[in-house]
Amino acid sequence: MLKTTLSGDGSRTLYCEAAGEHYHSTKDGAFSEALYKHVLPAWQYRIAGRSTVTVLDICFGLGYNTLVLIWYLRQQGYAGRLQIFSPEHDLKLLQGLADFPYPEELAALSPIMKKLAENLACREADLAIEIIPTEARSWLKQFKSSVDIVFHDPFSPARNRQLWTYEYFAELRRIGSDDLLLTTYSTATAVRMGLFENGFHLYENRPAAKVRSATLASLTPLPLNEIDMVLKQQRNPAAASLRDSG
Ligand SMILES: C[S@@+](CC[C@H](N)C(=O)[O-])C[C@H]1O[C@@H](n2cnc3c(N)ncnc32)[C@H](O)[C@@H]1O
Repeated sequence: MLKTTLSGDGSRTLYCEAAGEHYHSTKDGAFSEALYKHVLPAWQYRIAGRSTVTVLDICFGLGYNTLVLIWYLRQQGYAGRLQIFSPEHDLKLLQGLADFPYPEELAALSPIMKKLAENLACREADLAIEIIPTEARSWLKQFKSSVDIVFHDPFSPARNRQLWTYEYFAELRRIGSDDLLLTTYSTATAVRMGLFENGFHLYENRPAAKVRSATLASLTPLPLNEIDMVLKQQRNPAAASLRDSG
């Protein structure tokens, strides 16, 4: 039986002993993080009005980002095709998720979660989800599809450094569409520098009053106030991206 933690919005998350971190902000809440930091900006700036969308969900974890996206698109009556790829190296975690106590909003999605826990895949008329049970960075190197949106949600740079470096973001650019949008909870300057140096425009994602700010990075400009990364660097010459070799 998984020992869950009640998070700030009433939804449940887990604590990862190996990483020494929870899977979600216990203050903001697991469901709210997925909705406000990832799904709503993806909907607003990319998905609405498009007939097909491909999302890279890094990493699957408890699957909140994927499930809340499907839930929200159904709420909106989205009739397009959704494809999700999601690497996750913890197979034992995935196998235990069929019985995870997700919040009421996600109850109707339990058949999808069961298929994912059993087969690491789910294919329906306009929905295809594939979980890739391996290390994300090495898998990305041979990934050939083009993605429109990246939900970037590994553990913190202190724990998952290889998924926050300049070189890693360059890899995302290679597999991203020309207007790739990346959403992440991190607001760290080093993370934003790595994205900026790869040609992304950077924006503060200020969601609801109860959820802390996050970051939006887009290869095309968004109708928001752009963060002036050149000015940031002038004011703090020590500001630098994380590097693989660092
Ligand atoms: C913060 S949790 C993700 C939460 C998830 N997005 C959700 O909505 O529930 C981070 C996840 O990344 C996975 N992970 C960490 N490093 C990884 C790597 N290099 N490759 C694949 N998965 C990784 C961990 O096992 C963990 O499940």
